[in-house]
Amino acid sequence: MKFFIDTAQSAEIRTVAQWGMLDGVTTNPSLVAASGRNYRELITEICQFFSGPVSAEVIATDFAGMMKEARDWAKLSPNIVVKIPLIASGIQAVSACAAEGIATNVTLCFQPLQALAAAKAGATYISPFIGRLDDIGQEGMHLLREIKTMYTNYQLSTQIIAASVRHLEHLRQAALLKVDIATIPFKLFTEMLKHPLTDQGLAKFMADAKKIPQ
Ligand code: G3P
Repeated sequence: MKFFIDTAQSAEIRTVAQWGMLDGVTTNPSLVAASGRNYRELITEICQFFSGPVSAEVIATDFAGMMKEARDWAKLSPNIVVKIPLIASGIQAVSACAAEGIATNVTLCFQPLQALAAAKAGATYISPFIGRLDDIGQEGMHLLREIKTMYTNYQLSTQIIAASVRHLEHLRQAALLKVDIATIPFKLFTEMLKHPLTDQGLAKFMADAKKIPQ
């Protein structure tokens, strides 16, 4: 499973990239607003030090507006992926982007037929939001499972990004489903490295190491 980071914080991207664990970056308007950064300046900065796919989202909701933003984003760097919402005008924009060779990440997917539509339109990536479905009492993992089955059934090449990931169990289950990618908040990158027995074992090894004759 590829690891993308879901963040608008450059420092977090640099840290995980330095660990050698990072395959891509996703952003969204809410994360960028919380960062206080200008969206274009932030994406430009990220693309200067990170060469993997970087998702930048359109703000327009009409086809012409989305295409203008998509072309503007795509001009910024060859690794830009344009994030487009899963609405009818968005699907049209995905199709037009595919024809122009612009990579797309279709966002706000909450049911499997939306994902099938995005793949048929030529989306590079689909982002089912599993945590937000769990939030309303549904099973986000079930959505991932159904999309994975549909894409396998029809040999669709759109890559699935498990998005709205809230905890390590989401990541474990997504990996067991052989989902292509998870986009992960920074705190889960640190959490996934931890186990109390690792800490206890290391403390004992360090204490014993001092007893080794020099
Ligand atoms: O970036 C898309 C998605 O990961 C958002 O997650 O936590 O706001 O539901 P969340």
